[in-house]
Amino acid sequence: MCGIVGYIGNRRAYDILIQGLHRLEYRGYDSSGVAMISETGELNIYKSKGKVEALERYAVDKDLGGNIGIAHTRWATHGEPNDINAHPHYSQSGRIALVHNGTIENYSVLKEALIQQGYKFVSQTDTEVAVQLIEYIMTTNNCSLFDAVKEAAKRIVGAYAIAVVDRENPGQIIAARQSSPLVIGVGEGEYFLASDATPIIEYTNKVVYLNDGEIAVINRDEELKVYHINGADQSKIEITELQMSIEQLEKGGYPHFMLKEIFEQPRTLADCISGRITADGKSIVLAGVTDHKERFLNAGRIIIVACGTSWHAALIGKHLFEDFCRIPVAVEYASEFRYSNPVVTDKDVLIALSQSGETADTLAALELAKSKGAFVFGICNVIGSSIPRATHSGCYIHVGPEIGVASTKAFTGQVTVLAMMALLIGQMKGTVDAETLETVANDIRRVPTLIKEIFKLNDKIEDLAKIFTYAHNFLYLGRGYNFPSALEGALKLKEISYIHAEGYPAAEMKHGTIALIDNDMPSVVIAIKDHVYDKTVNNIQQVKARGGKVVAIVTEGDTVVKEMADYVIEVPQISECLTPLLTAIPLQLLAYYIAVNKGRNVDQPRNLAKSVTVE
Ligand code: G6P
Repeated sequence: MCGIVGYIGNRRAYDILIQGLHRLEYRGYDSSGVAMISETGELNIYKSKGKVEALERYAVDKDLGGNIGIAHTRWATHGEPNDINAHPHYSQSGRIALVHNGTIENYSVLKEALIQQGYKFVSQTDTEVAVQLIEYIMTTNNCSLFDAVKEAAKRIVGAYAIAVVDRENPGQIIAARQSSPLVIGVGEGEYFLASDATPIIEYTNKVVYLNDGEIAVINRDEELKVYHINGADQSKIEITELQMSIEQLEKGGYPHFMLKEIFEQPRTLADCISGRITADGKSIVLAGVTDHKERFLNAGRIIIVACGTSWHAALIGKHLFEDFCRIPVAVEYASEFRYSNPVVTDKDVLIALSQSGETADTLAALELAKSKGAFVFGICNVIGSSIPRATHSGCYIHVGPEIGVASTKAFTGQVTVLAMMALLIGQMKGTVDAETLETVANDIRRVPTLIKEIFKLNDKIEDLAKIFTYAHNFLYLGRGYNFPSALEGALKLKEISYIHAEGYPAAEMKHGTIALIDNDMPSVVIAIKDHVYDKTVNNIQQVKARGGKVVAIVTEGDTVVKEMADYVIEVPQISECLTPLLTAIPLQLLAYYIAVNKGRNVDQPRNLAKSVTVE
């Protein structure tokens, strides 16, 4: 979390930095700040609690000159969100400014040592230690900023992406990375720096992704140089050409990114599927899998590690792999897995599932499994992000940039890729027959059209949301493939409306949760026509018998549930394993409209960030 931007060139840095902060605001919005070195050699730092627009209001009458600068948008870890804890942070002499994304684990030890040397700290952040340490090394060793950053990087334990400027050298930015992302945009006579490529794409499509342990020396009018902290040799600089377009980052007429992203799903899923199912519908094409066929054929087990919404998609993946490949699957929260002393062998395939490709826990979990000999496979959205670069192989979901903090199109993209993978591995293993493969593959191709059908219910769902906007608690129930859908529906509601919601297996409810049901607690029940449909119908009866209100998601043409539920939303018929792709849509819309009715900031809900690059 936290977003970093930097610029050096001939334009006014402030404009580029502010625009970049807006693009990265999804990463955190507790505070923001900029530091520019003006034409007269002043190092001006402006910071403000709250969103980037608060910073703009604060800075409006200030000296905003200078064509070099760094900026930051914060998701607070150490120290409350306020102006002082906001980045950039100054060194004691006021000469150096630094922005940081990550956490410095040994900051208290370093801070104590610097205090002993006479350094005074003004903030409660771990970051201030880094800037003071760099200045301390620079003055005691009488060395360059680059050497000081290199030395400091060796002493800092933890995760960081940093950008540093020195008032005495207005032609240079030094940037370093360890476990937090950093991308450098290479323009004509100018360089850009950011936590991801979104602030860069409108200026240049040429980028360099920094790797862990690397330090970039970005000098005005000079070639970019990248070094490793352990050696003086310049690394080979690999320039990547980005495919992303600026239109993909705009709201395109929708009031919120979340709504735009929900409505984009027919197209994003068509992109995700494109070229991956052969024209005759008989085969799946995923080179990341077939290139490593033996690893999948010999897999004793698949472990899927993920967090948040991706973890819910992983639970659907478990059903898919077990149904089609007959390989046992363990789904783990990455944060638990990495500290659990897991049993992992070289027969295991570990799948790291992550929209951003940057989630710190997921990255650490895959590194752990890799160190134990597992074959590690990434399913990510953000191209060139850390997870795809750390895996043996992988597969992108190709749904385009997801900006709304609540994940929508990435979820359906993940489930779609998992379904295609399961079919392909099942075909390779001989555990899925040709007819089933063809039926499901053709159904995958129908999903974009069927989602468009569901959008016709948009107004109905908007009306339904009005009825339930003032509920304080919700229960989401589902079974089988749609138990994870219930978890995801509840998470969507919680994270953007701040209404308490619990996802539960419909049958398990009777072992405790049923005690909560009364007239004030609506239940959203996914009761599509699957192999446990009759059982789910019973569960609905149990809720109704306790006076509960039921909103049911049913298969088109259902008459049984219609009789007993208070409200019904119909989704088209499709292969059972793909039903989560359809049931997700009304659940996303319901959460969205309830949150809008409550006046919530849908795209940037409180306390959350889209990309969690800290533990
Ligand atoms: C954050 C986001 C969630 C997301 C989770 C995992 O908590 O707010 O929406 O599901 O991280 O992110 P990833 O990028 O790894 O899928």
